[in-house]
Amino acid sequence: MKTRKLFHSQLRFDQLDEIAAMSFLSITLISYILCLQFFHAEAEGVSVDAHSEVKEEKRFMQYGNIEVLEKLPHDPSFFTQGLALFNGSLYEGSGMNGQSKLRKLDMSDPSKPLQEIDLPQEFFGEGITPYKNGLGEDRLIQITWRERTAFVYDPKSFKLLFQVKYHKETSNGQGWGITYDQPRNEFIMSDGTTNIFFWDVGVLDSCETSVASSETKDANETSMCDVVIEAARSIDVKAKLQQQSETPIPVQHLNELEFLPISTIKGHDSPTLLANVWYQQYILEIDIESGEVLKLFNLATICPTMTSENVLNGISISDEGNDILFVTGKLWDSIYKIRIY
Ligand SMILES: *[C@@H]1O[C@H](CO)[C@@H](O)[C@H](O)[C@H]1NC(C)=O
Ligand SMILES: *[C@@H]1O[C@H](CO)[C@@H](O)[C@H](O)[C@H]1NC(C)=O
Repeated sequence: MKTRKLFHSQLRFDQLDEIAAMSFLSITLISYILCLQFFHAEAEGVSVDAHSEVKEEKRFMQYGNIEVLEKLPHDPSFFTQGLALFNGSLYEGSGMNGQSKLRKLDMSDPSKPLQEIDLPQEFFGEGITPYKNGLGEDRLIQITWRERTAFVYDPKSFKLLFQVKYHKETSNGQGWGITYDQPRNEFIMSDGTTNIFFWDVGVLDSCETSVASSETKDANETSMCDVVIEAARSIDVKAKLQQQSETPIPVQHLNELEFLPISTIKGHDSPTLLANVWYQQYILEIDIESGEVLKLFNLATICPTMTSENVLNGISISDEGNDILFVTGKLWDSIYKIRIY
């Protein structure tokens, strides 16, 4: 099970916690100085270019802020592996063999499902994301941990449309997190390492076409498409920290992902990627081209005391703006609506 792997890896990213306080102090000081300069400039009628400050800071990872807007109930028995908003409702996927599910949550009480479907016992569910197929129809995909199988559903009827058995995808053959870049029509996947992979969604369109045309369907049988998936490209996620040398630190255990169409960083024109890190209490904002960690959001104030596996593991943007997120974790009793900035 996934728990076993926890202490095996020596590559730690939790040094970040130790230096976060120091960095906060220095950022506070820098802001204070910039603020003084700004007021000074204002007083003299000199205009200040806000973007030039941002560009200076972008050389190192920034520390962002969160504001908790709402606390909503969450099913404390749900081993959350994926959270995604579609058509105004949250969808959630869970893991563990025999307990893996896909749910559409009741937004008036998100601890309850409006619709639910179980994965067969032999599958350990992981990330989920809605996407559009080649005909522009809405689909929802759920990946699995080590079974190299993805399930594709109609998010409205909750009907399982087909399964994809893939032979090659990530660096270790595992699936952890998935999200969708609609402008590029790409899935973005994590596998628990420092790597992030990009797949062309078109591969699934050809599967869907082939299974739709097959005549061999009996009532209980879900069509299976067997494909070799090659990642179109991949990035290595690294953070450059102010208090360290210039050498970027690789970030292990990238888990749940969320595509952010507009960065929270002023002056950063391209979309970014949000990721939570297994057994850590923060969300990272990552440059989608270079893999550089741009910003860290510390969620320690909302993460429950870690007792076992109850780690942060669910990120979804809301329909109230790309900086307003829903976040939750495995076995958490709450979903939080937060603003990140
Ligand atoms: C989206 O939500 C609306 C309003 O609840 C509903 O009428 C519509 O069927 C939903 N569409 C899909 C694809 O689920
Ligand atoms: C189909 O599923 C139903 C309900 O689970 C079951 O009773 C039936 O035996 C299945 N039929 C076949 C052909 O597997």
